[in-house]
Amino acid sequence: MLNHVVTYAPEEPVHDAAIEDINKEAFGPGRFTRAAYRIREGGPHERGLSFVALNGDHVVGSVRLTPILIGATQAMLLGPLAVRPAWKKQGIGAALMRASMEAARLAGHRLVLLVGDEPYYAPFGFRIIPGHQIEMPAPVDPTRLLGCELEPRALQGVEGKVRHAATGG
Ligand SMILES: CC(C)(COP(=O)(O)OP(=O)(O)OC[C@H]1O[C@@H](n2cnc3c(N)ncnc32)[C@H](O)[C@@H]1OP(=O)(O)O)[C@@H](O)C(=O)NCCC(=O)NCCS
Repeated sequence: MLNHVVTYAPEEPVHDAAIEDINKEAFGPGRFTRAAYRIREGGPHERGLSFVALNGDHVVGSVRLTPILIGATQAMLLGPLAVRPAWKKQGIGAALMRASMEAARLAGHRLVLLVGDEPYYAPFGFRIIPGHQIEMPAPVDPTRLLGCELEPRALQGVEGKVRHAATGG
């Protein structure tokens, strides 16, 4: 059964090529036009808060967190989250979510944003962000713009344009 053992570790540069491959497989060429991708291309993700699922040396799943600004508020953008097709439905996605969210919390982050399916992300504390307080760089279905408050009321009063933190004000 050793073949099916999965471990979790913070992402390292050696994982980059496999992660690119997993995301290509999961999201196809359309991934480059997505609003979240547009934000992520503004700068690096945070490797210490990004995790890989490993079977031996093989990356079978990945989740990344990227520092962003929403207006003047610091937050993190979660994604992409993807698991190799042969490894789906074994709890790997959930374990990656828990690892990255816990790491974000321990690092003192207050708010995590993502674009995705609410039914999948709700168990991890994500809710649809009400109203139109947050402006993404490309159109997003408002029912897919989700936020998770790591501290109570972290979303209160947050408004403005979302961009990579490295692009500044
Ligand atoms: C979404 C994804 C990361 C989940 O990975 P995983 O390791 O299979 O996840 P888990 O094993 O923790 O959970 C699987 C459960 O989530 C459900 N699920 C998967 N995608 C879902 C979605 N988009 N909406 C609702 N539920 C979903 C599965 O049906 C499964 O349910 P079950 O346990 O009742 O059968 C994986 O399916 C994937 O890589 N998908 C393609 C990329 C993608 O869509 N990423 C998310 C971006 S929004």
